[in-house]
Amino acid sequence: MRSKVTVVGAGNVGATAAQRIYDKGYADVVLVDIVEGLPQGKALDMLEAGPILGTDASILGTNDYVDTAGSDIVVITSGVARRPGMSRDDLLLTNMNIITSVVTQVVEHSPNAMLLVVTNPLDAMVQRAYQVSGLPKERVFGMAGILDTARFRTFIAQELGVSVEAVATFVLGGHGDTMVPIAASTTVGGTPLSELLPPERVDALVKRTQDGGAEIVNLLKSGSAYYAPSAAIVQMVESILFDKKQILPCTAYLEGEYGIDGIYVGVPVKLGAGGVEQVIEFQLTPAEASALQHSADAVRELIEVMAAAG
Ligand code: NAI
Ligand code: 2OP
Repeated sequence: MRSKVTVVGAGNVGATAAQRIYDKGYADVVLVDIVEGLPQGKALDMLEAGPILGTDASILGTNDYVDTAGSDIVVITSGVARRPGMSRDDLLLTNMNIITSVVTQVVEHSPNAMLLVVTNPLDAMVQRAYQVSGLPKERVFGMAGILDTARFRTFIAQELGVSVEAVATFVLGGHGDTMVPIAASTTVGGTPLSELLPPERVDALVKRTQDGGAEIVNLLKSGSAYYAPSAAIVQMVESILFDKKQILPCTAYLEGEYGIDGIYVGVPVKLGAGGVEQVIEFQLTPAEASALQHSADAVRELIEVMAAAG
């Protein structure tokens, strides 16, 4: 029997993630949106590619959460995306209300699901989903670190003219301007990045990574990135469904790890059939540790704004 993956939000990120999962054929997919016809039309279009691709999985578009019942994983992308000049934080209260409504309906029909939150501002939205769902922390987490890390890896590989696969690094912290690319521990083919590039070039690549989302928004003019984000979602889905236990930077609930307590922040985790099975703690330089605390403080501020709003 195939796994069941629901994707809420049939916009750019959600529909592209649904397509990537459906195309691989290992899970039946349900695509949900509040707009009538949108998920139905996109899902039917994807389904009709099945004979060409050779996939016998199903994909269903719907506006009704009854169809999502018994999902193994629910990917939540519903919400408003950034426009030029907007930060991820500008989306806070609008998307908080959307997450509250969506998560309530999701959990009613799939009480055993894992929730993979994507909607921005990411860390605050995962926190909200955790609070509303009542699910254990292992089963509620967010996608951002894989995307930010992929951007950092791309820029380093381009700069050095090497395969992206040679670049080993992590981007930790909140998914915002305060994110923390771990430059000091970055290696390229086993060699420390600091031996390959002068500090000013490393700083420039760190800055480009931190501005990576805005760079795409400014080019697109309407909407934000979705090809790399949807690929990141699929990596998480597969690590869970196939119990791969990959070590991936994900947004996870911390209870003292890295000296951070009671909030969601991006950290390396072991992701498997049990969801977030372990938070991996590794040695940060004093500057990186301090930057991570600063990033956690920025997330905490958003959580306080949400709490004040109700
Ligand atoms: P989009 O605007 O293309 O799609 C959003 C979809 O959500 C729309 O189809 C809309 O109708 C739907 N929606 C709105 N309210 C809903 C509700 N109550 N129930 C069900 N569906 C609802 O936006 P896009 O580009 O797909 O981005 C989605 C979200 O993901 C945004 O918040 C964006 O900022 C975020 N994002 C996060 C990333 C990350 O790394 N965590 C990366 C890329 C995007
Ligand atoms: C990004 O980083 C918008 O958060 C999204 O591209």
